[in-house]
Amino acid sequence: MKTDRLIEELYREHTLSDEDYRLLIEGLRQEIREIDPGELYQLLRKDPETSHPDRPILQLFHRAQQVRESVYQKEVYLRGLIEFTNVCKNNCYYCGIRAGNAQAERYRLSKEQILACADQGYHLGFRTIVLQGGEDPYYDDAMICDIVRGIKQQHADCAVTLSIGEKEKESYQAYYDAGADRYLLRHETANEQHYKQLHPDSMSWQHRRKCLYDLKEIGYQVGCGMMVGSPGQTTDHLIEDIRFMQELGPHMIGIGPFIPHKDTPCREEKPGTLYDTLILLAVMRMTYPRVLLPATTALGTIHPLGRELGLLAGANVVMPNLSPGDVREKYLLYDGKICTGDEAAECRHGMERRVASVGYQVLVSRGDWRGQS
Ligand code: 5AD
Repeated sequence: MKTDRLIEELYREHTLSDEDYRLLIEGLRQEIREIDPGELYQLLRKDPETSHPDRPILQLFHRAQQVRESVYQKEVYLRGLIEFTNVCKNNCYYCGIRAGNAQAERYRLSKEQILACADQGYHLGFRTIVLQGGEDPYYDDAMICDIVRGIKQQHADCAVTLSIGEKEKESYQAYYDAGADRYLLRHETANEQHYKQLHPDSMSWQHRRKCLYDLKEIGYQVGCGMMVGSPGQTTDHLIEDIRFMQELGPHMIGIGPFIPHKDTPCREEKPGTLYDTLILLAVMRMTYPRVLLPATTALGTIHPLGRELGLLAGANVVMPNLSPGDVREKYLLYDGKICTGDEAAECRHGMERRVASVGYQVLVSRGDWRGQS
């Protein structure tokens, strides 16, 4: 069959022609439907030699695992996520914390609360703290720098990742100078028309893209990414995403399924699927062997084994929640989000068990990108 030839080519060359990416992604989508997620989980935990290597979909995941293990062995990196504000000035059509959602109960954490969370995370073994929030003008550059410095002063061996949206280059530079190491800003889609379909006119693909290039130029380890199955997304859009990322050279790619939120204009849209996301993860692992690839919370939300399957499809990062219990259920980007109740410690230990259940091992380390540059 053609799919298995394409998997081998991608495994060897780390890229395909547009047409072959399309054939591969669409061919795999057809085939994977025949397997149930529980069965897939069992098959992928077995030795590849004994688990039908002749089925292209299993071949895909085994090849992706081989690539991830050649770079990152069996290690999984932990990032402790602190969702410090759900106030946002933007109105992205898909997002539950969009400015226009009057139903969202808004909150902001103080510097002291954030530092306490980071400290707790440190003692639980996190060496990367991710500060994520809406684009909330309340936190000006001086405050963000102050918080970054505070974490670095407490824990010099921790990496600090920011995920606070689109800013001016000078602001990005100031955070970097204050000690921030990494920045996550999903590009969402590399197709301008599609970008317009998902965002209001006040936002633009050009600016998004500029931000990502600014961040790289400054020297951050940069994460981009997109939702799988976002409203209007086609296979061609995904191929444009792949080409954009080949050009940008991100250190991390965040991929999760789109999940509708009831108080957004996208409430009636179909969610992205577990399988489409797993296929994309494996294709990304083989296209960018060294990239940091998280098994996202959204993936764990659409299926109880989502994150485990994500790891088996080539992911090597997990991001448990460190936010204080009373605000977690307010940071709802989409409906049904998991881990809104667990304590940080439970989340951490639960994650360790999940990772171990698929034969991998969480690491107490910063988990930097492992590349040559
Ligand atoms: N479903 C899944 N992911 C979402 N995000 C925002 N809204 C949703 C949703 N409804 C993702 C976006 C954003 C990241 C922080 O969360 O890709 O960049």
